[in-house]
Amino acid sequence: MYTGIKHLHSTLAYVLLAGLIISILYVLFAYLQKRPYNRKMALLGLICAHLQFLVGIITYFVSPYGYGNISGEAMKDSIARLYFLEHPLIMLIAVVLITVGYSRAKRLDTPAKQNASVLVFYAIGLILVLSRIPWHVWPRW
Ligand code: HEM
Ligand code: HEM
Repeated sequence: MYTGIKHLHSTLAYVLLAGLIISILYVLFAYLQKRPYNRKMALLGLICAHLQFLVGIITYFVSPYGYGNISGEAMKDSIARLYFLEHPLIMLIAVVLITVGYSRAKRLDTPAKQNASVLVFYAIGLILVLSRIPWHVWPRW
């Protein structure tokens, strides 16, 4: 169970990075070239983010580095703290921002504003995701 979920979470990290980058590049060029907003292209990044977030929550409860490792001692260890606190918390904030960018775009009234909403919120989300990936063990294959 643990190994399978961990591999899924590890693999979906590639899917999320690819999905977010494709969404961001698409809305960036749509914005620059004054093209219409394409909701499906923004949905790509949103779905990847939600899916990985859900699998992340499951990982948290099956991994020895997640919920089971919360303690004052682990707080003093930067790698342990990354896994049980910083990684989940910052990823939550990133996924919330991505969802806000997508939701705002639905309510905005011009393609320029819609593309800009997705561009800005997804880009901040991507930076947050990149900031808390456990780079000392990932990418791995
Ligand atoms: C912890 C689990 C999840 C939470 C808390 C969550 C939360 C949300 C929220 C708040 C929205 C509303 C966004 C809006 O205003 O449009 C949303 C939309 C959506 N989510 Fe999730 N989600 C979760 C998991 C998933 C998963 C696993 C998938 C699919 C793989 C998914 C796919 C979608 C889709 C397709 C939308 C609709 C976007 C639209 O309105 O067009 N979500 N989710
Ligand atoms: C949504 C964006 C997220 C991304 C891109 C992401 C990415 C990653 C990556 C690349 C790893 C390393 C996997 C490996 O060792 O091969 C990892 C590990 C982990 N993630 Fe996430 N994650 C995300 C969200 C979350 C969330 C929301 C949680 C918890 C609520 C979470 C909990 C964990 C845990 C506990 C581990 C350590 C697993 C282990 O080695 O036992 N992740 N994550």
